[in-house]
Amino acid sequence: MDPTHAPGPIAAPSGRQSALAMNAAEFRALGHALVDRLATFLETLPSRPVTTGETPAEVRAVLDADRALPDTGAPAADLLTRAVELLTEHSLFNGHPRFFGYITASPAPIGILGDLLASAVNPNVGAWRLSPMASEIEGQAVRWISQLLGYREHGSGLFVSGGNMANFVGFYAARAAVGDAWHVRAAGVGAPGAPRLRVYASAETHTWLQKAADLSGLGTDAIRWIPTDDALRLETRALRLAIETDRATGDVPMLVVGTAGSVSTGVVDPLHEIGAICREADVWFHVDGAYGALAATWPDAPADLRALHLADSVAVDPHKWLYAPLEAGCLLARDADVLRRAFAYHPAYYHFDDGGGTNYVDLGPQNSRGFRALKVWLALQHAGADGYRRMIADDCALAARLFAAVDAHPDLDAHTLGLSIATFRFVPPDVRDRLGSGATETYLDELNEALLERLQRSGEAFVSNAVVHGRYLLRACIVNINTTEADVDALPAIVARIGHNLHAARRRDTRT
Ligand SMILES: Cc1ncc(COP(=O)(O)O)c(C=O)c1O
Repeated sequence: MDPTHAPGPIAAPSGRQSALAMNAAEFRALGHALVDRLATFLETLPSRPVTTGETPAEVRAVLDADRALPDTGAPAADLLTRAVELLTEHSLFNGHPRFFGYITASPAPIGILGDLLASAVNPNVGAWRLSPMASEIEGQAVRWISQLLGYREHGSGLFVSGGNMANFVGFYAARAAVGDAWHVRAAGVGAPGAPRLRVYASAETHTWLQKAADLSGLGTDAIRWIPTDDALRLETRALRLAIETDRATGDVPMLVVGTAGSVSTGVVDPLHEIGAICREADVWFHVDGAYGALAATWPDAPADLRALHLADSVAVDPHKWLYAPLEAGCLLARDADVLRRAFAYHPAYYHFDDGGGTNYVDLGPQNSRGFRALKVWLALQHAGADGYRRMIADDCALAARLFAAVDAHPDLDAHTLGLSIATFRFVPPDVRDRLGSGATETYLDELNEALLERLQRSGEAFVSNAVVHGRYLLRACIVNINTTEADVDALPAIVARIGHNLHAARRRDTRT
């Protein structure tokens, strides 16, 4: 049957001819065709380059970016065909088995389908009445995550767009808790007589903290950057001292951030000790576990990942180690009331009293909310708790394997291994005996930066970088259900080959 003439309107009742209407048969045919193409795309991913490495100008030219929006509509089939082509031929694929950059996971296939389902039902998960089942599913997914990482049996929380927003929610919960005395939500942080609020974190903390301090009105100067030890873990003695010093001068410590898996090297702060200090000093303890909190499921995890339960709030990122397609972040809190005290208002135009149903509009900054929880809820059940334990352990084992392979390579130096992040650099044989000298180290920083640029564009593999103790390093982070030992084993030779080519070219240039 020609789908464009099939009966059965899906979206246009009683004769209205909406320009976006699509009848059921057409929707079905287009959907099947799209899913077929996507299945082929996913199946062929390993044989494609990780990225085409095109320039912005090249991508804009393919898109015809300056074209004006046409006045008349176009057939959906053509649009979808072109969109698939544009995206599958001109993207960087973080689901590729050799994508080891930043901390972006390969998406779980069931999550991809879950997003389609969520869009079709389109519940507004701001209020229970607008999303009865979706709200309950979100609550269950939050509880499961909380239980999986040993935070709370009955903790509360909500889904947000990612790690930054999850951390923001924790930050604002802390601000509301400490500022209750002068009604900080109404009077603001600069209210007459209000004390200066202070937050404490190590310099390894992700940049969400500056954004939160800035946007909340505290200002980034409110952050006390606590030094780290040689292993890049927050120094607890310095933390204790900083809190005491601020208290003595009349400032109010609002929040201590501990990181469970730092973005650069996967380091876990001494969370047990930080938790004890916060309890003693009565300061909100927030853990940024966007990357690493879920590694608490890994039997070989650093012992401090067993201390998440000490935190008042924990940020987790399901689009990292739960392998959810972007976007999905999650903030866990002791209970829902600490979030309500930070976010709830009750405008006259809402009538959302459903006797026990959670209205997520009250727990976070968003009003209308999509159904991000569905893809996570599906993936959690598809893999099961044990499936997640194994996937995360496998990622960590692959990173350790890479670290060992780099260590054994004559022209690569392994630097750090934390959770599933390995850092390393290329060191050409003829500079090895001058390591440590200022000129050689500067040369190696520049060489490795150029190497990264070349590697990222090559499409052979994708790593990112870290600066550790002042040195520019390559950084591979494996949060990827598609990566195999063969993918990891291939990386050292690729890196060394590009490094040697660049080094030889630089040597030639300095001789001519
Ligand atoms: C430790 C940590 N916190 C926060 C973030 C921010 O997360 P998102 O990019 O999901 O906002 C990241 C991202 O890598 C991270 O590693």
